[in-house]
Amino acid sequence: MKGIILAGGRGTRLHPATLAISKQLLPVYDKPMIYYPLSILMLAGIRDFLVITTSEDKPLFQRLLGDGSQWGISLRLAVQPAPGGIAEAFLIGADFIGNEPVALILGDNIFHGYGLEAHLAHAVAAARNRGVIFAHQVTDPQRYGVIAFDGAGRPVAIEEKPRRPASDWVVTGLYFYDPAVVEIASGLRPSSRGELEITDINNAYLARGALEIIRLGRGHAWLDMGTPESLIDAANFVRTLEQRQGQRIACPEEIAFRRGYITADQLRRLAEAMGATAYSRYLLGVAGESAGTNVS
Ligand code: TTP
Repeated sequence: MKGIILAGGRGTRLHPATLAISKQLLPVYDKPMIYYPLSILMLAGIRDFLVITTSEDKPLFQRLLGDGSQWGISLRLAVQPAPGGIAEAFLIGADFIGNEPVALILGDNIFHGYGLEAHLAHAVAAARNRGVIFAHQVTDPQRYGVIAFDGAGRPVAIEEKPRRPASDWVVTGLYFYDPAVVEIASGLRPSSRGELEITDINNAYLARGALEIIRLGRGHAWLDMGTPESLIDAANFVRTLEQRQGQRIACPEEIAFRRGYITADQLRRLAEAMGATAYSRYLLGVAGESAGTNVS
């Protein structure tokens, strides 16, 4: 399975913070924003990545992420010339996807919760022949793609930013599809706001009877980080979790080590390159754990 992280966009709601730099490179407590979505796809077992960004920000992502080999993954960058919509990722990534299933995650989304890895494993397996998306309840559904259900709880339609939402269940920024998604994306027309809509892709899968929706319950957090308020909320969420448990979330180095992509020595070298930081000390602690814990 291939993984795409969509990290373009203009980030206008964060101006002036994003006038000179990509939103997805801003810090969220102790690490760059893009580490969070990248970690989710790594936890899904994906090792082959395409990061889509803007031409101005591409060199910065290159500097931060390299080719991924330091984390035992493969990572390349592509440019989205203008924010033409989330579904455009499948056209930009068509060659990269080839004939494989693909996961797409938005570069400003955080997912966290008990049992998430099992959901991810299920989605990876199911996306061999269908689409799998994740839904979450929110208090402001009119900002998102809203799912309408029939009396038996089956999804019947997804409506993008409706004035009168049919439910408070909305589509989150994490999607798994079979390779047919490229062809579906090729057939899309831009919406009235000029974007290729991911909702149109999801409705195409729904019409084929090939869309599975995983509802993330109240044990799960889903945050996006598009505004100053949500950015500081996300940072505080991460800080609270990490300080309370003494365990960090969304460290690509740690995930790479626990999955056996890199050795303890490699992890130590990555940590040492970060100097005398708490992040570095944390990774050194992970590297020092007994060999028996080297599993996810
Ligand atoms: P948005 O938050 O909808 O857009 P944005 O990041 O440009 O911010 P703003 O609305 O403040 O101008 O995008 C959600 C995520 O998807 C974000 O990580 C950027 C990414 N994205 C793209 O990379 N390309 C696109 O064409 C779109 C629509 C979004």
